[in-house]
Amino acid sequence: MKIAPSILSADFSRLGEEIRDVEAGGADYIHVDVMDGHFVPNITIGPLIVEGIRPVTKLPLDVHLMIENPDRYIEAFAKAGADYITVHVEACPHLHRTIQLIKSLGVKAGVVLNPATPVSTIQQIIEDLDMVLLMSVNPGFGGQNFISSTLRKIREVKEMADSKGLQLEIEVDGGINAQTAKLCVEQGATVLVAGSAIFNQLDRKAAIENIRGI
Ligand code: DX5
Ligand code: ZN
Repeated sequence: MKIAPSILSADFSRLGEEIRDVEAGGADYIHVDVMDGHFVPNITIGPLIVEGIRPVTKLPLDVHLMIENPDRYIEAFAKAGADYITVHVEACPHLHRTIQLIKSLGVKAGVVLNPATPVSTIQQIIEDLDMVLLMSVNPGFGGQNFISSTLRKIREVKEMADSKGLQLEIEVDGGINAQTAKLCVEQGATVLVAGSAIFNQLDRKAAIENIRGI
């Protein structure tokens, strides 16, 4: 499994050090939670921060856009150094166009589904995706409890991908700890986002290994 620490739970006064710490601790991606105060009830990070952290790490930056009208900002996040950009199906009336826009900028593209959004919403677009991100909490805040109905959605995405012969990342975001990580991987998840379970621990290497079940 790949682990993507979410910097939402990092100490923002020392963001560079926090990122170096999780990279040294074995992280695979850095997960960046972008919130606009409209699509979700919180405001966080813009392209300026992504640009600032880009030189700090060699790890891919996995940029999760929880914003309305993401098309307006995709180019700015691509230029800032995003390696993956994921957009919410609930925020994209022209999802095919949005995905093509991300890919046209040389960035890997993914779609995110909120807990109440069915997997069938990506049936017609899955061939174009590098990643499907399943929210296992309602987006907006770190430190919430894992919603267990996500497990069968992971299985559904895996079956949809396998039936079409696709190799894509299946990422799960929210409430990930050692217990929920194991359950997600059993259903076919390949990337796990973890914020509070990593950044709330002093020893980030131990926290990452704990999620991996080492
Ligand atoms: C929630 C964010 C998550 C969040 C996860 O809106 O998308 O990435 O930071 O935090 P934890 O791991 O604490 O649930
Ligand atoms: Zn996220």
